Amino acid sequence: MGTELDRNILVYFENRFVPLREARVGILTHALHYGTGVFEGIRGYWDADQQELFLVRPRGHYARWRANCGILNIDLPLSTPELCELTVELVRRNRFQSNLYIRPLAYKSAERIGVHPDEQDAFAVVALPFGDYLDSRRGLHAGVASWRRVEDNAIPGRAKICGAYVNSALAGDEARRNGFDEAIFLTESGHVAEGAACNLFLVREGKLITPPVTENILEGITRASAMELARQELRLEVVERRVDRSELYVCDELFFTGTAVEIAPIVRVDHRPVGEARIGPVTAALRKLYADAMRGQLPAYRKWVLPVYHPAAAAQAA
Ligand SMILES: Cc1ncc(COP(=O)(O)O)c(C=O)c1O
Repeated sequence: MGTELDRNILVYFENRFVPLREARVGILTHALHYGTGVFEGIRGYWDADQQELFLVRPRGHYARWRANCGILNIDLPLSTPELCELTVELVRRNRFQSNLYIRPLAYKSAERIGVHPDEQDAFAVVALPFGDYLDSRRGLHAGVASWRRVEDNAIPGRAKICGAYVNSALAGDEARRNGFDEAIFLTESGHVAEGAACNLFLVREGKLITPPVTENILEGITRASAMELARQELRLEVVERRVDRSELYVCDELFFTGTAVEIAPIVRVDHRPVGEARIGPVTAALRKLYADAMRGQLPAYRKWVLPVYHPAAAAQAA
């Protein structure tokens, strides 16, 4: 996953651009002990033909980040447009010409013992060259986790709260040790929620089905993109409803969505084939649409990408 870490890469930390090797936090930092941070994950795609790097839906990611920081009472001093500008500046300063993963992190930064949070907040933005998260080209084998998805009234899963990712780490680790590529979470009531770090869709009887946001899922931006592409470009009916576990075993197609996983087909689930155990036509079509849209190649979806190097030319093309 990704290339070897270059510690000379510039990152934004404590209100300035510094080399990654200098961006350090103290051992007593509140977020390190108690998980009191909120992060984001944004992709950037390099298109060699256009000599352009496209940030994928940065406004949506930063708006979600700002809203979810509110759950932990973390104050972010920059607006969504300012955060987009900062990210463009970060990529330009590093002169990146490769696919990227951008990791904004806001956190409770006081250095002391004691779980009660205070008003000391900090944030950082790191951009790293990044390849495939899961090798999904031939399709994945997913397994239902024995761990249940964290409940909204315990730790809200709709926000990317650092501490909640213990839940994902436990399920993801279990899945890999059991020979699966990725985990599928059920809720406490036994309905399908999502993957350890991705949302989940089924195709049944020509409809695209996904659990609603009230099922303790992260409100995925790739999920929203996939739903819009399916409705607008494939003219599919998209239904948000509760999904039973056994529907995973009888559906025609199954796939994950997420910034890191992109649109990842699942061809086996719990040792059972999904459909013909091949990448299905809806999944394949959505994968292609998504890849083209996020590289600025579909005029109707230029609204989703922010070009870093030639914004004026890109605006004209749109
Ligand atoms: C638990 C979880 N679900 C879903 C997603 C997908 O969200 P998005 O498409 O916004 O990246 C993520 C992303 O990291 C995640 O961590």
